[in-house]
Formats: sequence, structure tokens, C-alpha cells
Amino acid sequence: MILFIEGKNTYQIQKMNQNLSVQEAEEHYQELKSKGFHLDLTRGKPSSEQLDLSAELENDLAGEFDQDGIDVRNYGGLLGLEGMRQLGSEILGCKKEMVIAGGNSSLTLMAQYVSSLFFQGNGEGPWSMHERNSFLCPVPGFDRHFTLCDEFSVNMIPVPLTGKGPDIEKTKSIVQSDSSVKGIWCVPKHSNPTGETYNEESVNGLLEIASSREGFKIFWDNAYAVHDFAKSEPLPNIFSLAEEKNLQDSIIAFASTSKITFAGSGVGFIAMSKNNLEKFIKHYSSMVIGPDKVNQARHIKFFKDFKGLKNHMNKHAEIVGPKFELVQEWLSKQNYGSWTKPTGGYFVTFKAEPGLAREIVNLANKAGLKLTPAGATFPYGVDPNDEIIRLAPTACTNQELEEAMKIFNACVALATLKKRVNS
Ligand SMILES: Cc1ncc(COP(=O)(O)O)c(C=O)c1O
Repeated sequence: MILFIEGKNTYQIQKMNQNLSVQEAEEHYQELKSKGFHLDLTRGKPSSEQLDLSAELENDLAGEFDQDGIDVRNYGGLLGLEGMRQLGSEILGCKKEMVIAGGNSSLTLMAQYVSSLFFQGNGEGPWSMHERNSFLCPVPGFDRHFTLCDEFSVNMIPVPLTGKGPDIEKTKSIVQSDSSVKGIWCVPKHSNPTGETYNEESVNGLLEIASSREGFKIFWDNAYAVHDFAKSEPLPNIFSLAEEKNLQDSIIAFASTSKITFAGSGVGFIAMSKNNLEKFIKHYSSMVIGPDKVNQARHIKFFKDFKGLKNHMNKHAEIVGPKFELVQEWLSKQNYGSWTKPTGGYFVTFKAEPGLAREIVNLANKAGLKLTPAGATFPYGVDPNDEIIRLAPTACTNQELEEAMKIFNACVALATLKKRVNS
């Protein structure tokens, strides 16, 4: 029987009579382990089949080097080619003038923006002058956001996600009680790894919080803005909502084509208000003379326009969608835990019984299935309940995924039954 627990609507809970003994679970696990399987599903990467969709990008520009009045092979064009800024603005839902089309990684742009805050600050002087700078981290979240904060010694405060965005009441109370809080990380659409999309109440709640704290920044990492593979809830446009409240300076948005074209050779975007851009460009231009405009020109030629990009994403959905269906099918075959059912993005979150995530990931590793380390989706690598596991099913073939899920289920069953017997 499948039950949806109210208030946790992204988690699909299955309750069935358990009918395996520990010994049977152990035997099943050992049998699978002996097969010598090897697969690395630690990261949400596009599969080769997805990368092949953008094969035309490898074609040269056939001499079309003159764009926006500059030779794209040369220095300059700091903000990126106009056509690419336009695409970035349509992905993010903001004005083109707000967008910088940069190098291949939005994560680099995030790091560069954080770095700018240490030198310029966001209203209360440079961060380097403050004893403590804190950022709110909705959990489970994107491990790289947390690594970045760690590297910059930014203190991380977890806030729970609700299935429709961060817990706003909790977020408000933390901000009220801690003056070191400077902002929040958000992956608002098909969030990594829960798959949830923020609703209007959450977005308005975040803006209300931003209005209560001078310089508060919402890092709007819209990495999965156009990555639906099934009918999805729309994401409210934060830029329009912010404009109504005169809070445009609170939003710093990011996106990239990493999971649209080539993950290692795409185009990253950062978008912000005119005020913020004027400040940031000073820092950015000290590090960058101009982005890879040849690659940007190739992207513009490849997509032609946003409609072309959306059509291209439909082809990704045809490849990615069945993989997520497979994961759901396999998870439904086992009796333990709960999991998300995303309609886009790159991840499924599996919630094991408390105290078992590390054990399950270890068992999977020993059987040749490498998963994202347990705890990685929490600040400082600490999942307080040791229960969250991120599944990233895109990079492998469907056949490999079937094997991987078989092993995963066996690990979940073994770890859960062992715990029950011992408690
Ligand atoms: C939420 C999120 N943001 C950013 C990135 C990385 O983006 P980029 O390749 O543009 O650096 C990822 C990659 O997995 C991601 O999941």
C-alpha cells in the first residue's frame, strides 16, 4: 500500500509487511556483491547519450567570428555576448541587462560573488571585517554550496526544506536571533537533491526576510530552471515579486548550460540588479578580461533562441524521464524508507530509517555501487539523523541503473533488518 503523508508531500512512504529475514537479506546482498559490479553514481552528471544531443556544438563557427562588433576570438566582451545574455535572461526570468554570461561554470561565478562580498560587503562593510558571516542552508542541499562556504569560512546554518521551499517560520526566527546571517542558498526549481520547487508563499516569505535585514542576499541558484521531465509546478518569478517590493538588490541568481549542453564546456550565468552589477563588475573585472566567447557564439548558433533551447530540453527529458521512472519502480519494490518523486532535475532523495544512511552507502560501496557520501547534502557533512541518501540516476545506462537499484534495495533491506533485529 502506498501512502502519502500529509505535510511531507514529496516523500512517498511505502508500508508493507516485511517478509525477509536478516539471513535472507544477507545472502541476497552477498550474491549481488559477488557479481563484481562497478558503477559510480556519486554525482548528477549527464549521460553520454545526453551529451551527444549537443554534438553539433563541436562544429566550428565557419568563420562567423564577428559578433556584437567584436572578434569573439579576442579579449573583451566582459559581460558576455548579447545573444548568450539573452538566453541567460530567459532561463532565469529576468532582464538581459542584469545578466553576465561568463565561463563554463556557475559555481565559479558563485565563488567570485562570495569573494566580492569579502572585499565589498553587502551593506555593512566588507565581510572580511566581520568576525562571523553566516549563510542559511536549506537541507538537504547541494554539497558544493556547502564546500564553498566552508572554504570561505562562512558559517552555515541548516534550515529544513518543506517540499515547497525552506521552512519560512524557522528561517525568520534564525534571522531575527542571529545578526551574522547574511543570506540564504536556494535551488528553487527541482532542488538538488529533494527535487522540490518553491511555491509563491515560500518566495514571498524569503523576500519578507530579505526586507528585514540590511544587505540580505538570496542566492537563487536556478540550475534546473528548464529541466522538467514530467509535468511540473511553475516556479514563481522572484524578480517580478522583488520588483513589486523594491527588493531587487536582494537577489543574486545563477544558472548554466552545464546540464543543457556540455557539463564541462557550457556557459555559466550570474544575474543581479543594476546596483549590484556596478559593484560586482569591479571585482569581476579584476579576475576576468573576457569569457570564452567562441564557446558562447557556438551556443548561440546551436540554439538560435530560447525556443530552440526548450526544444533541446525536451530531448533531454526523453532520455532522463525513463531513468527516474526506473528508480521509482525499483524503490517501490522494497519495503523500507521513503523517497521523493521529482518531475525534473537530477536527483531522488531517499530517506532511510534514522541512523542508517552511512551504513547503506557503505554496503553499496562494498558491492561496487558508489553513491554520494551520506551527510554530503548537509553543511559540514553532518546529517543529524543519518538518514538522507542522494540518488543520481542520470549518468549511467538504463541497464546499469537496474543493476544499481537492485543493489541499493538489497543494501537498504539488509541495513534496516539488521537494525531492527538488534534494537
Ligand atoms: C544546484 C546546482 N548548482 C550548480 C551546479 C554546478 O553548476 P555549474 O556546472 O554551472 O558550475 C550544480 C551541479 O550539480 C547544481 O546541482
